Amino acid sequence: MRILILNGPNLNLLGMREPGIYGTESYADLCERIARHCEALGISHSVFQSNHEGALIDALHGAIGEYDGIVFNPAAYTHTSIAIADAVKAIGIPTVEVHISDVSAREEFRQISYVRSACVSTISGHGFSGYLEAIDLLLERFGR
Ligand code: DQA
Repeated sequence: MRILILNGPNLNLLGMREPGIYGTESYADLCERIARHCEALGISHSVFQSNHEGALIDALHGAIGEYDGIVFNPAAYTHTSIAIADAVKAIGIPTVEVHISDVSAREEFRQISYVRSACVSTISGHGFSGYLEAIDLLLERFGR
């Protein structure tokens, strides 16, 4: 079981970025929590973060044949990018959409998610734990 953890724009600034919404833990802290979880479960994983739409699309294309599942927080591209949604649909790898904050309780423009219909599930508002829950969900899906 190989899982790709993909993070979109501004998530590299976790910890300093709007801590009232996203918390005070850093992106490195998030990666560490994910690594510990995957290690405990005995699964291999990679993490990738980019502030660029095309780089995220390239990472999705590069996942073909390399990963069994994807945990994806497209950040603001969730609400704007049809190209990213199309890429998730195109690659056919089970993908879970994750948001640290509860987007349903935030601004109107965050209520749109283009990527949602391409994903097997969405976890929103569970903080960093949402990533771990998404990994568990993919494992369950693969009967582990
Ligand atoms: C986010 C929510 C998005 O609306 C926002 O643009 C982000 C982060 C989250 O994890 O809560 O950058 O995806």
